[in-house]
Amino acid sequence: MSNEIRFFELNTGAKIPSLGLGTWQETSQPEPGVIAHVITHAIKVGYRHIDCAQLYGNQKEIGSTLKKLFEEGVVKREDLWITSKLWCTDHAPEDVPKALDSTLRELQLDYIDLYLIHWPIRMKKGSVGFKVENIVPADIPNTWKAMEALYDSGKAKAIGVSNFSSKKLGELLEVARVPPAVNQLECHPAWQQHKLKAFCKSKGVHFSGYSPLGSPSWLEGDFLKHPVINMIVKKLGKTPAQVALRWGLQMGHSVLPKSFNEGRIKENFDIFDWSIPEDLLAKLSEIKQERLLKASFLVHETKGSNIFEEELWDGDE
Ligand code: A2P
Repeated sequence: MSNEIRFFELNTGAKIPSLGLGTWQETSQPEPGVIAHVITHAIKVGYRHIDCAQLYGNQKEIGSTLKKLFEEGVVKREDLWITSKLWCTDHAPEDVPKALDSTLRELQLDYIDLYLIHWPIRMKKGSVGFKVENIVPADIPNTWKAMEALYDSGKAKAIGVSNFSSKKLGELLEVARVPPAVNQLECHPAWQQHKLKAFCKSKGVHFSGYSPLGSPSWLEGDFLKHPVINMIVKKLGKTPAQVALRWGLQMGHSVLPKSFNEGRIKENFDIFDWSIPEDLLAKLSEIKQERLLKASFLVHETKGSNIFEEELWDGDE
């Protein structure tokens, strides 16, 4: 078995590379040059899927990097999978096509492979920051209609959602003419999301997992050090990150690890020519389950501690 990237088939018939590079940068003012170097290195290593978003503030630099890589013949546009996301301030149906056009301009692309509604949350147009006081009632059915028009136009080859609970995804499926192709959510061995994943699968919606390593630099919890992971690491001679990513692939979802380090970008790619035996895979369910991305940044100051948390995830586990 060679270490070649594998794919999952979406309900559009398109094949999404099972490993994508996350591009979120922790700082609001990313240092110029960093993401260009990371993308170039990852593509040379063999990554074919880049997970972007308007929110991340680095699409312009990603766009000029891609242009250079296309011009130099390092990779062809048609061999790359580029995802981007509609930010919460652009949910108004008339703003949706403008937001995609702006993203396409930044990325210097004619089309996007996948365009996602980033959150099932709408914020005041033009507002800055992920703050509760900016939230206005969402109207997902009408936002989705505008997404469907982008799909019809061919500018978005697939459309989908991110951070949608099974309840919200179910409601959307009831009104959608074009069903979402993907739901992208937090997923790793310490937040396995079996129920939501089974629901997505039953509806033909591909599940994609962000924070597959638990985003150790900014989220609490460090499952990569868990004794079960350690035991598997020792038995298979792999690293904790490789075990976490390989677990995701074997669970049937795509994984979107971030790394800005050349060695770790390569390490995270080396997950296709080996597998975790069933008995060891089963052991990973012993890890205590806990959502790491708590949305506490959105907790309502006057209503209390975690009201918004409940509204957002609808009790999904
Ligand atoms: P770095 O960029 O220094 O490699 P996630 O993808 O779950 O959001 O996690 C991203 C975080 O995990 C980043 O802080 C990244 O740091 C770190 N990381 C990425 N790959 C690995 C790896 N193979 N081993 C340990 N940490 C990693």
